[in-house]
Amino acid sequence: MPVMERPAGSEAVTTPILTTPGPILLLGAPGAGKGTQAKVLMMEWSIPQISTGDLLREMRKDPVKSASPLGRQIRQVMDAGQLVSNDLVQAMVLERLKLPDTRRGYVLDGFPRTLPQAVWLDQQLGRQNQALPVVAVNVQVSYTNLLRRLTGRRNCPTCGRIYNIYSNPPQNDTVCDVDGTALGQRADDSESIACERLRMHEALTAPVVAHYRDLGRFAEVDGELPVADVTRAVMDAIVRLRS
Ligand code: AP5
Repeated sequence: MPVMERPAGSEAVTTPILTTPGPILLLGAPGAGKGTQAKVLMMEWSIPQISTGDLLREMRKDPVKSASPLGRQIRQVMDAGQLVSNDLVQAMVLERLKLPDTRRGYVLDGFPRTLPQAVWLDQQLGRQNQALPVVAVNVQVSYTNLLRRLTGRRNCPTCGRIYNIYSNPPQNDTVCDVDGTALGQRADDSESIACERLRMHEALTAPVVAHYRDLGRFAEVDGELPVADVTRAVMDAIVRLRS
């Protein structure tokens, strides 16, 4: 895993104190800024970010796993902008949640994104006898901006810092401000695949938002604001939902 750096544009905000953040879900369309915000929460509240997209990309980097029939299938599905099977993602999340760093809480980013995944997570958390119930924050951004964010996103393969050539560009066009590594672009951030991901989101993930809204302990924030303002809104919402 790359060493983690603050996302570009996320200058320090005054962090509300939350001794036990508990399980936090960051919901939102591809490009809404879930990863950007999850990294800040992770750093400010010392809890892990669990991104199913990152876990799948890590799996793809493993030469043995990626050469297996399952590895090849995952690559095909992700590169087409579609969703990996519920069973596979759930098994991955279950393993990750067993690690001791999740005891005080964690931020789930990109999971659940189908209704069966949400129902499965509710059951798991019920079984684990979590001290705190899950809280969910949905980050909202318009379709036009989502597409612009996805196609403009660049990542540093060394430190993991996220940039955007339109809204949060690096000082030098092509390299990371922190370590000078050449920035990369995700294969699924091309315009055609980004459109497919947004379509899948609309079809499969909208019911997940309705599910958490119905359960309560749910908030919506405006993800169109500058990164630091979104961070403030997300943190305030979580503190409010926990009080
Ligand atoms: P995943 O990696 O989870 O991708 P995603 O959900 O499509 O989300 P992104 O990572 O693209 O966007 P983000 O919301 O994190 O935005 P970011 O902070 O980077 O999943 C990839 C694939 O894995 C899926 O397509 C699927 O195949 C598979 N998968 C993953 N989870 C799965 C699951 N649960 N079930 C089945 N399959 C699964 O920001 C985006 C850009 O915007 C950046 O450039 C950033 O700098 C910029 N930006 C962020 N915030 C702001 C702001 N406030 N103002 C201006 N610019 C901003």
